[in-house]
Amino acid sequence: MSPVSTGAAPGKVILFGEHAVVYGRPAIAAALGVGLGATAEPAEDGPVLHIPAWGQGGLVVRPRSRPDGFESIGRGFRAALEAAGLSPDDAPVSVTMDGELPPGVGLGSSAAFAVALVRSLLAFRGDHPTDDAVIAAAERVEQVFHGTPSGLDHTIATIRGCVWFERATAERPAVVRRLEVGAPVDVVVGWTPREGVTREVVARLRARHDAHPDVYEPLFDAMGAVAAAGAEALASGDRARLGALMDVAHGYLNACGVSNVANERMVDTARRHGALGAKLTGAGSGGAVLALPEDGRPRTAQRLVDAFEADGFQAFATRIKG
Ligand code: PMV
Repeated sequence: MSPVSTGAAPGKVILFGEHAVVYGRPAIAAALGVGLGATAEPAEDGPVLHIPAWGQGGLVVRPRSRPDGFESIGRGFRAALEAAGLSPDDAPVSVTMDGELPPGVGLGSSAAFAVALVRSLLAFRGDHPTDDAVIAAAERVEQVFHGTPSGLDHTIATIRGCVWFERATAERPAVVRRLEVGAPVDVVVGWTPREGVTREVVARLRARHDAHPDVYEPLFDAMGAVAAAGAEALASGDRARLGALMDVAHGYLNACGVSNVANERMVDTARRHGALGAKLTGAGSGGAVLALPEDGRPRTAQRLVDAFEADGFQAFATRIKG
C-alpha cells in the first residue's frame, strides 16, 4: 500500500438530454474545470472519511454514519470501500476530500465524489485501474445516491472532456463517444439550493411517464433530437444555434415538470442579460442553470455572473472544451 494516494474528478454540466437519457435517449455532458480531490492515507482507526467543506463545519464520515443532510454518505463510503476491495469494518485508511464543487445542485458533485474516492482507494491498494474499472466501481457508489443512475455523471467524471452518452441496455453496453468541440464554449453556471434530490426528481417524472407514456415518450424523442443537433452545433462552433437549442431543451425540461420557480427565474435572468440561450442542467427542481453568454469575452461572462448574483443566486464562469 502507498503511504499517500490521491484521486481527483471534475464536476460536470449536462448540455442536452438530462432525464431523457434515463429513457434511452442520448445526452451530452462536459467536464467542468472545478471538481473534487481525495487523499487516502494509512490510519489505524480507519476507515474514516473527512470532508471539511461540506455540512456545518465539515463532515466526519464512517461507513455507518448518517450526518444530517447527507444521510446516504456513509453507505456511499461503504460501497466505495467494497468496490475497491477494502473492508468497510476495519480497513486502516483515512480519506480527506477537498475541492470547490457545491454539493447537490446538479453539477455532478456525487459522481465527482464517487470517482475521486474510488480512485484514491484503488491507488491506496496499489491498483492502477483502467477508466472502465473506475466507472464500474463508481457506479456502485452512485447507485447508493441515485438508485438507478443512467451512468452519464460518473462516466464524464471519469473520462472528462465532452461526451455523447447513451445508457447501457440489456443488449449492449453504454455508448460513450468523445465529442468534437469546434471552438471552446464559454458558459456561465448559476445555482441555488435544490428542492429534493436527483433520486426524487427522477422518481416523480417516472410516475408521470408511467401513467401517460404516450405523452412523455414523444417529448423524450424530441429531447434526443435536440441533443443530436447540439452535437453538430458544438462541432461547428455555431454559438447562436447552440443557444437556440439550449432554450428549446429547457422548454422540454419544463414540459417534463422538472423545472421550478428558481430555475425559471435564473433562466429569465440569463436571457434578460443577453444570453444566447439558457437551460436548467442536471435533475432540476432548483439547482443549476447553464447560460451561454453573447460572446466569448471574459467581461461578457462576468456580466452574467454579476446578474445572477444581483438576483440572489450564486454563479461562476467556466469553459467547455473537447
Ligand atoms: O444528479 P444530476 O442533477 O446531475 O442529474 C443527473 C441526470 C439525470 O438525467 C436527471 C439522471 C440520470 O441518471 O442521468
